[in-house]
Amino acid sequence: MTITTCIFDAYGTLFDVNSSARRAAEEPGQEKLAAVWPQLARDWRQKQLEYSWLRAIADRHCDFWQITQDGLDWAMEAAGLDDPALRERLLALYWELEAYPEVPNMLRTLKERGLNTAILSNGAPDMLRAAITLAGLTDLLDDALSVENVGVFKPHERVYDMVGNRFGCRRDQVLFVSSNGWDAAGAAGYGFRTVWANRNDAPMDRLYARPNHVLPDLTTIPEII
Ligand code: LAC
Repeated sequence: MTITTCIFDAYGTLFDVNSSARRAAEEPGQEKLAAVWPQLARDWRQKQLEYSWLRAIADRHCDFWQITQDGLDWAMEAAGLDDPALRERLLALYWELEAYPEVPNMLRTLKERGLNTAILSNGAPDMLRAAITLAGLTDLLDDALSVENVGVFKPHERVYDMVGNRFGCRRDQVLFVSSNGWDAAGAAGYGFRTVWANRNDAPMDRLYARPNHVLPDLTTIPEII
């Protein structure tokens, strides 16, 4: 089946969510954070995701910025970091996440081939806009679809429905790419062709569907299409 539309998850897939804690830890006076930042970054991300799933199940939606702050508060307390200025710095850096190095060239190749390209993310629209602009990806993406349009987080099917509604394509014409195993599984279960970018060499999630492809990063996405 011909792929017409290539859809990307944002956080962890195009943008490095660990770059906030890593960069803050490199700043002067952050010795305490420097000692614990990898665990802090892991806890922050894990709690942020858990809160997204729990809020979806409980039908208690709030936006991604709120659960990003809630996850950080949990992670800072777990790390014994009681530092409001550091909290503000980490949150500010979350608006400046670095794109992974292979992302611009990969997107440019897809655009040159005439494919639709877009983000489909839990992120709030202003968060996504900031990350896209800073990474210089504005001209390489046709759209950034946010779950705020449907009021529930992934992997609810209403989120994946946004792709067909926006681009007028069938599910099997979409290649959906995520570094989050559970998101790749959710999209595969929905009927998209799916790539799991397994950046951390993790085991396959045991869920209701499996991705069609597993890659170490996004470099070879154009070859798959
Ligand atoms: C997103 C999260 C799941 O961008 O990474 O939707």
